[in-house]
Amino acid sequence: MDQTIEPGGTPATAAPAHPTVPHRPLTVPAGEAEARARAFHEVMDRRRTVRDFSDRPLPEGVVEWAIRTAATAPSGAHVQPWRFVVLTDPERKRRLREAAEAEEREFYARRASPEWLEALAPLGTDWSKPFLETAPAVIVVFEVHKGPDSPRPYYTKESVGISVGLLLATLHQAGLATLTHTPSPMRFLNEVCDRPPEERAAYVVPVGYPAEDARVPDLRRKSLEQVMVRL
Ligand SMILES: Cc1cc2nc3c(=O)[nH]c(=O)nc-3n(C[C@H](O)[C@H](O)[C@H](O)COP(=O)(O)O)c2cc1C
Repeated sequence: MDQTIEPGGTPATAAPAHPTVPHRPLTVPAGEAEARARAFHEVMDRRRTVRDFSDRPLPEGVVEWAIRTAATAPSGAHVQPWRFVVLTDPERKRRLREAAEAEEREFYARRASPEWLEALAPLGTDWSKPFLETAPAVIVVFEVHKGPDSPRPYYTKESVGISVGLLLATLHQAGLATLTHTPSPMRFLNEVCDRPPEERAAYVVPVGYPAEDARVPDLRRKSLEQVMVRL
């Protein structure tokens, strides 16, 4: 820290309250900004939630880079309250599928309200989750709450949600498909993933190449006019 201590022990200049470093902005010429934003949109507009995976192996390193990118997300008070558990072992994936399907059977048969089931109908989803075994990797994303080795987080859901957005975007632009899966409830994931109680699973993300004949629901995204308000 830049400060001179006077003989009397008093700092000559007020020390900054916290250390800082120079910002390293990503410099984009203003004339290129729209084209870059548009090009990113074109890539992201091709992302779809895939529920039919091939067992084709993942290219080396992509999952690790995606998790590094996810971990660049902003977080409340910079607590970084996330953990990404990567399951590739077939036996773990089998246990995950078995436990998830048990919860999902209950969900579809009893827990889901008629209104919720109606909203899900166009997606054609049901209790069966073969993708949890077929996809070569399943990333289980945990929120990290206060515990013996973890501080109290702030805005945990928001922070983890943003990091998962970055995770999905990175995997997608590397040519991989993902599914954002949220079995409910998720407590069983602590046992399957060997995680302590202060970690709470929030997302289960199978990652892989789509099956050759994969199809996706015919959905429409809202237009800019429907989602943006300019004042
Ligand atoms: C928080 C969240 C939870 C979701 N949970 C499930 C799920 O449990 N099972 C599933 O098949 N899809 C799930 N989805 C995927 C959505 O159904 C999907 O994003 C939506 O239908 C739009 O389709 P698209 O992702 O292809 O644009 C979830 C998505 C989000 C953001």
